[in-house]
Amino acid sequence: MEAIRWEHDALLLLDQTRLPASEHWLRYIDYREVSQAIKTMVVRGAPAIGIAAAYAMVLAARESIHNNADFPAAMSQAKAALAASRPTAVNLFWALDRMECCWKACGPDLSRLENEACTIHLEDIRMNRAIGEAGAALIPKGARVLTHCNAGALATGGYGTALGVIREAHTQRKVSMVYADETRPLLQGARLTAYELLQDNIPVTLICDNMAGCLMAQGEIDLIVVGCDRMAANGDFANKIGTYSLAVLARHHGIPFYTALPSSTIDLAIPDGSHIPVEQRDGNEIACFAGRQTGPAGVRTWNPSFDVTPHELLTAAITEQGVLYPPFDKALHDHLL
Ligand code: MRU
Repeated sequence: MEAIRWEHDALLLLDQTRLPASEHWLRYIDYREVSQAIKTMVVRGAPAIGIAAAYAMVLAARESIHNNADFPAAMSQAKAALAASRPTAVNLFWALDRMECCWKACGPDLSRLENEACTIHLEDIRMNRAIGEAGAALIPKGARVLTHCNAGALATGGYGTALGVIREAHTQRKVSMVYADETRPLLQGARLTAYELLQDNIPVTLICDNMAGCLMAQGEIDLIVVGCDRMAANGDFANKIGTYSLAVLARHHGIPFYTALPSSTIDLAIPDGSHIPVEQRDGNEIACFAGRQTGPAGVRTWNPSFDVTPHELLTAAITEQGVLYPPFDKALHDHLL
């Protein structure tokens, strides 16, 4: 399964807002529209938005060359527009910085820029496979695994981070059940994770977010693995809203709690999670459900898209270079050297 395709003159994105009802691909030739697609979550998931933004920079370069525009100015403008799309996942800024290094070094060389974006995409898939292998070693036979949101092929260049671990463990016949939190308000768990796992014939049970604690209390969960949008230098990390509650529940019930992430998600420039910018989204996402208004008109809402889990609640971080254990500040520092 994949959500991003590059066709040399256009970027194709699987419209994730329409899944699982329809598999509809959209074609982009304008970077401004890619920025809008990231904002509206046609493409979502930390690594996937970085990859989409990298390809969008190729579209920006093509436009600038075609229009005989001031290349550095046009590229900086495109970078700023894409950077303004979503604030939390650091992969977006990481990919844009990589593309900037490339155009600053090579100038308006379309094939070099295209090659860099494709490399970012392929590297992500490779990292996910390695994360899968490293993480599967942590999964006991017959495991019942809980996950939140969607950190799968749809959220990445392919294969997935948390779902990459589950995919590899399933291949090794270790997974007896995956419980997918539906993940209100936008239902990435129900619409995307359950869909992805069903397509791969991985056993999945869909639950509402407020059922996770009850499952843990009944002894039905052996471990939790989630994705990550940004990890700070001390191991605090942002992921989909609700992740923090799961981590607290996991600690209470003595259940191992893992996050799976490529190194493009690690932000050593910030010391701890309090520095992670958390996206606030439109309140209508929670005052409405499936296109119907469910909250009274005019009700006040609070809709952060992510929360921050303190590193103390994390058992280990699964990366493409192996599994990192506490103390995370030292492990992360050594990891990125
Ligand atoms: O708002 P989303 O759907 O972009 O949030 C996605 C997540 O929180 C994922 O867990 C995270 O990006 C990791 S994806 C490998």
